[in-house]
Amino acid sequence: MKRFLILGALALSALASCSKKPALPAVLEGETLTSPDGCLVLTFALSDEGVPMYSLRRGETDVVLPSALGYSLRGEFKGAHPKGGNSVKAYGDPTDLQKGFTLASVSRDSFDETWDPVWGEEAHIRNHYNELAVTLVQGSLDGAQEAQEHHNFSSYADAKDIVMTVRFRLYDDGLGFRYEFPNQKKLTYFTVKEELTEFRLAGDYMAWWVPGDVDTQEYNYMECRLSEIPSRMEEATDYNDARNFSPTGVQTSIQMRSDEGLYVNIHEAAVVNYPTTHLDYIPSTNTFRTWLCPDAEGWKGHLQTPCKSPWRTVMVVDDARKALASRLILNLNEPCAIEDVSWIHPTKYMGVWWEMITGKSSWAYTWDFPAVELGVTDYASAKPNGTHGANNANVRRYIDFAAENGFDGLLIEGWDQGWEDWYGCQKDAVFDFVTPYPDFDLPALNAYAHSKGIRLIMHHETSSSTLNYERHLEEAFDLMNEYGYDAVKTGYVGDIIPFGEGHYSQPTINHYNHVIREAAEHHIMVNAHEAVRPTGLCRTWPNMIGNESARGTEYRSGIKPHHVTILPFTRLQGGPMDYTPGIFESDLSRLAPGEGYFYSTICKQLALYVTLYSPLQMAADLPEYYAEHMDAFQFIKDVAVDWEQSRYLVAEPGEELVIARQVRKESLEKAAKGVAALKDGKKDYVNGSTRFGKGDMDVWFVGGVTDEKAREVTFPLDFLKEGSEYEAVIYRDAPDADGTCGVQADGSNPGQRYVIESRTVSAADSMTLRMAPSGGFAISLKEK
Ligand code: NOJ
Ligand code: CA
Repeated sequence: MKRFLILGALALSALASCSKKPALPAVLEGETLTSPDGCLVLTFALSDEGVPMYSLRRGETDVVLPSALGYSLRGEFKGAHPKGGNSVKAYGDPTDLQKGFTLASVSRDSFDETWDPVWGEEAHIRNHYNELAVTLVQGSLDGAQEAQEHHNFSSYADAKDIVMTVRFRLYDDGLGFRYEFPNQKKLTYFTVKEELTEFRLAGDYMAWWVPGDVDTQEYNYMECRLSEIPSRMEEATDYNDARNFSPTGVQTSIQMRSDEGLYVNIHEAAVVNYPTTHLDYIPSTNTFRTWLCPDAEGWKGHLQTPCKSPWRTVMVVDDARKALASRLILNLNEPCAIEDVSWIHPTKYMGVWWEMITGKSSWAYTWDFPAVELGVTDYASAKPNGTHGANNANVRRYIDFAAENGFDGLLIEGWDQGWEDWYGCQKDAVFDFVTPYPDFDLPALNAYAHSKGIRLIMHHETSSSTLNYERHLEEAFDLMNEYGYDAVKTGYVGDIIPFGEGHYSQPTINHYNHVIREAAEHHIMVNAHEAVRPTGLCRTWPNMIGNESARGTEYRSGIKPHHVTILPFTRLQGGPMDYTPGIFESDLSRLAPGEGYFYSTICKQLALYVTLYSPLQMAADLPEYYAEHMDAFQFIKDVAVDWEQSRYLVAEPGEELVIARQVRKESLEKAAKGVAALKDGKKDYVNGSTRFGKGDMDVWFVGGVTDEKAREVTFPLDFLKEGSEYEAVIYRDAPDADGTCGVQADGSNPGQRYVIESRTVSAADSMTLRMAPSGGFAISLKEK
């Protein structure tokens, strides 16, 4: 069922303000800003009516035609600030911040630094940009004189006018810009009706996009021209409880390609105390307009000066591989806010998880009760349903397997009371995050895991009751600290409580960010599912080691083969994804009757550990299915999850990817060293990690994936150390492998056909490998 969000009067008034919009000039003449390499040129100007506008080109090619900037505000007078006298309005001024601006001052800057992320696709990141900040005054300018002379708009106390700065940063690979509102008398507390930032694109680009939705990001990608978005929207909305906001609305980040071969991506960076934006496509002008996710009342943000919007970003590169190498979003975020980061470590884990996702077992403990109530329901005397996955014996089985194979952690879902009616009941107090089911002996299992060098990973499904989670957060994190759990997977399935909020509104964004900060205080790493798509905040809060925020492995047969060739261009621009790869048994009916087929070869699953970057990687399948293919499983055991450098060898969204990554040696042992402080002051331990590539030799991993088409790729190995020989172990699709055709009449499964071979190679060599339909390959390269 599709639901369109109705905002009643608010939507009508927004439409009314659009129709009054002044005409924009076709070409801008004004302040220009050039990227450090001279390729990108931004122009800023005010129209005759004082509308702030910008345009962007690469060389002689236009990318963003003159496009408007600005806001429309709530514009209601709600009374005076208690201390400010009658002239200060609590909810802003009726004037929209859309036109009537004068340019008050211009400042320029350049910046070039290299910073080292705590974990990442590379150990050193260059942040190099040129900057232009334009300070605009809306009004008479009379009172602005003094402030203008002193370039001090933050003490612009006497003015009758509104001051707004737009700060542009131009990198070689793209543009970031944001709005800043200094402290000022006429604008103190204000409410955003809509942000009016536009992106008027210069061509009918090819686009890879998912529909806008205020509650989910878990869609397959569409691939079509911009002009086809309206007619393809229904087909794109392949989610059974969709909440689209517009028949032409899409989500950030959207990847596009121009006919000239430019790869253009619109996204945002550093969304803090502000809603996430969607993009509404206006076919008549080939324009995307920001559409901020509304709160329960329909407003788009309650702000207080001084404040800043998130960065709006337009990446422009001339090669798809450069889009993957771009660090634009990370660079626009603030540096790390956590002083001691020694406890943050890349993690490879298994989980009591896939068996619940496929329906082989259940999260719930009993079917005795039509409804349960925490603290009231007597689980101890309830009849177990016999399918509860998180039971002591099963968890021990996983601990044993994970320990034998050198994993760092084990996630266990369904351990806490409340799963019997966890979803779809509009229930506030679903979980308390501290009370286990009778068959889950937390202290004993934890001790057993630690004795084997495995750290348990906590699971907090909140059922989207952010209120309930915040009430229990401190206690829940204390429990984790007590037992040495140093990572939590959170989840936000269902409708947000408080009722009426969406998953990406300002209050809900503030909840996610609050959890990250509180977790950092407790030395806990966070992997949030269903939370907002990341916007590079992991630079500031590197305890955000994972996020889902897109369609992942849990969709089983609902994942299109091209999906994983697109994610690195879109979702992963903002931060890593807990995609949960590693499914070897693609005939899911072996797990539960009625389950479909998982459209991927085993080798494609291996490749994902390299092509979908994350410092948190799961081996998602069941131990018994890995046991059937231990030779292929060796790659998952070996592969690293943190990198010194990455090389993007082949890339085209929707088609294929080949990525090579060099192991970051210093983090191989990090998970093993023992990092979470226990209450008694001791450090807890994990010592089971046996990762491939310890020692001095150089180690690389390569992954390649394709969509539904078989492809042959050739790539050089010139990233290897010159003069050295390497042992390459190649895991490739067998000639008769196929990830798209399902189980055959003879019972054989072409998705499981692979070849493993070893070769000695050097930097002078290249490799040619064939990928089956929805197939791929994985290679480990160890210096001899
Ligand atoms: C959805 C998550 O994406 C999935 O990983 C989890 O198992 C379920 N919610 C239950 O929390
Ligand atoms: Ca999910």
